[in-house]
Amino acid sequence: MTLPLASVLQDPDFINVAYIVAFVLFILGIRLLTHPSTARRGNIVAAVGMAIAVAATLLTEDVGDYGLIALGIALGTVIGVPAARQVKMTAMPQMVALFNGVGGGAVALISWAEYREALHLGGNPELETLIPILFAAIIGSVSFWGSNIAFGKLQGILPGKPIQLPGQQFLNLGVLLVALVSAVLIASGTESEGLFIAILVAAALLGNMMVLPIGGADMPVVISLLNALTGLSAAAAGMALDNTALIVGGMIVGASGTILTNLMAKAMNRSIPNIVAGGFGGGGTAPGATEDGEEKPVRSTDALSVATQLSYADRVVVAPGYGMAVAQAQHTVRELGDELEKRGVEVEYAIHPVAGRMPGHMNVLLAEADVPYEALKEMDEINPSFPEVDVTLVIGANDVTNPAARENEGSPIYGMPILDVDKSEQVVVLKRSMNTGFAGIDNPLFYNENTALLFGDAKASVGEVLSAVKEL
Ligand code: TAP
Repeated sequence: MTLPLASVLQDPDFINVAYIVAFVLFILGIRLLTHPSTARRGNIVAAVGMAIAVAATLLTEDVGDYGLIALGIALGTVIGVPAARQVKMTAMPQMVALFNGVGGGAVALISWAEYREALHLGGNPELETLIPILFAAIIGSVSFWGSNIAFGKLQGILPGKPIQLPGQQFLNLGVLLVALVSAVLIASGTESEGLFIAILVAAALLGNMMVLPIGGADMPVVISLLNALTGLSAAAAGMALDNTALIVGGMIVGASGTILTNLMAKAMNRSIPNIVAGGFGGGGTAPGATEDGEEKPVRSTDALSVATQLSYADRVVVAPGYGMAVAQAQHTVRELGDELEKRGVEVEYAIHPVAGRMPGHMNVLLAEADVPYEALKEMDEINPSFPEVDVTLVIGANDVTNPAARENEGSPIYGMPILDVDKSEQVVVLKRSMNTGFAGIDNPLFYNENTALLFGDAKASVGEVLSAVKEL
């Protein structure tokens, strides 16, 4: 007997098989994302997995109004595709924040719709459905509003500096209690849409008030944390809707977001509570001043001297940081590397895990400029060989090269692993001024005898060095 195609496609077993294929592709995609050379393929593999999961869900019987679903897909495509195509690399963290927030908001709205429907059908749903609905409402709402604030700070719509109300911690505790008590009341039998809305509003306030006191530069870690929360809330919504794809997809996002948050916090030698508590940075002596306020001398250099140093070196290491991203100097840096290699100089790139402002920031920029992957060396790999490096060119990096993290127990970044650039024979630092980096602290590297500073915008400076090398 042959079954009509529609009933085969709508068969729950067929849909489950499609989901399993999608999950395998998600995991394979994440695996491929772990290396720059396979990351693009990983993205495509995971996207195919997501397309299969969406198609399988649309095949489910009684999935809803196809017209409305088509409208949603059309709207998402019209907004999402140009946004993703046009976003600048440096604006990627806020884009992730925005998209992540939308996910959390969708979960909160789904949980509200599910609760409403249950009330219309005759009262509170079973506890095993109700608890995930309440969880999804709280976490989804926190994530939506928190992500919006993170977006606003990174985009410069809101001030990046921590914004703290008097008695902030008590206020946060108060709104958290309102959300939790309302959730407990509903879970213990009270049937009230008003209480449900109170949960959404209290969680919204909490999301805003949790992220406002955190400094703009800590946002990437906060976004990753909110990402993990969105994943967990989606998994909870999946339980309420009895949708395996949402449960598994949400758990994958929750787990990977948590791992990423931990890795970032570890690489910055900070705890997650410390980041969430906000107000990081500063302290120690002012840049350029000794403990008694006297001025410390630095040695500044010029493009021609740097070009000569580099051209006559055997081994050069480039240590890039946030300033290279700001200056968009990566292409000129690659050209300089090529020019030096033509002259027989070995050129490598030292990658610190939290250089820049997002995970993999330097890898992405250098890959975009076609720097060969083999030339990129992770911190642990390159650190032991710095004593054999003739010249290290620090391009817009500061904190990730700060020896105080290794030597000064009183430093706010003490214990953070750093690139040991100070151990190389000569160090040239490219930056615009004596300003501090993200951590807001002075860097003793700049005052070392073997360090020279080439002041100016990184792209312009590298360009001048490149021209000088060509003329030598
Ligand atoms: P930073 O310590 O922030 O230093 C960047 C340096 O670049 C500054 O000293 C700045 O000095 C210089 N600079 C800025 N614009 C420049 C331009 N146009 N041309 C030349 N130089 C320029 O950067 P880093 O060493 O990459 O360290 C990253 C920091 O961010 C760490 O503290 C890390 O913990 C933190 N963080 C990282 C992440 C991730 S996941 N990567 C997330 C959150 C926080 P001038 O102003 O004098 O030019």
